[in-house]
Amino acid sequence: MNTDLESGRTLAQALSDGLASDFAHEVVLFPPSPFLLAIQEIANGNSNIQVGSQDVYFEASGAYTGQISTSMVVSTGAQWNLVGHSERRHVFGETDEDTNKKVKVSLEAGLTPVLCVGEKLEEREAGQTEEVCLRQLRSGLEGLSSEEIAKTVVAYEPVWAIGTGKTATPEQADEVHRAIRADLVNLASQEIAAAYPILYGGSVNEGNVKELLAKADIDGALVGGASLVPDKFLAICNWDR
Ligand code: PGA
Repeated sequence: MNTDLESGRTLAQALSDGLASDFAHEVVLFPPSPFLLAIQEIANGNSNIQVGSQDVYFEASGAYTGQISTSMVVSTGAQWNLVGHSERRHVFGETDEDTNKKVKVSLEAGLTPVLCVGEKLEEREAGQTEEVCLRQLRSGLEGLSSEEIAKTVVAYEPVWAIGTGKTATPEQADEVHRAIRADLVNLASQEIAAAYPILYGGSVNEGNVKELLAKADIDGALVGGASLVPDKFLAICNWDR
């Protein structure tokens, strides 16, 4: 629940203006839904930027007042959506089954779902990190063909690292990413797993991004707080410059 229309536009425009013309990574902005169209209009002017929604509902249409359908998102030009962000799971009680349905409706609509997985602090302390993340991964992707899995993205976001200033160490993150990639070999194939984007999220900033992305199995970042400050977000985008 960050920004309003005007500050959201200003932020997206600053990000768009700040990316060099030879910028070589993909950037996806996930604004609050009321601003999808406005941010998409800014992204239309920059081939490096795409747009996604922070959530979708798992029914395609119907009487679900307040929910946002995949076709509504698609109609704004957006191409991505988040599924199962930790706040959806732990504040709103979204289940693994819900995330699976949301991944499926996203793919049916032609959106690229970013399935978020991650353990709570007590789960890490109980040695359950891998078990929790792989359970969320497998349930989120359940029933998908290998080709469909190849059209999804996963973000590992330890719940204790989101918005807390506590980042997983690059080693802690990479260990989970490795386990996710190994599981994707079984869920899809060696080839799909090798090319599959696994993002890390949780207090990513301009100071720690380089070390995180230097890890073999960390392919990108899902950035919260630092994305609200153009200079910080641009420094993250330009991590390898
Ligand atoms: P953070 O947020 O970067 O502020 O920790 C991450 C997120 O909300 O996914």
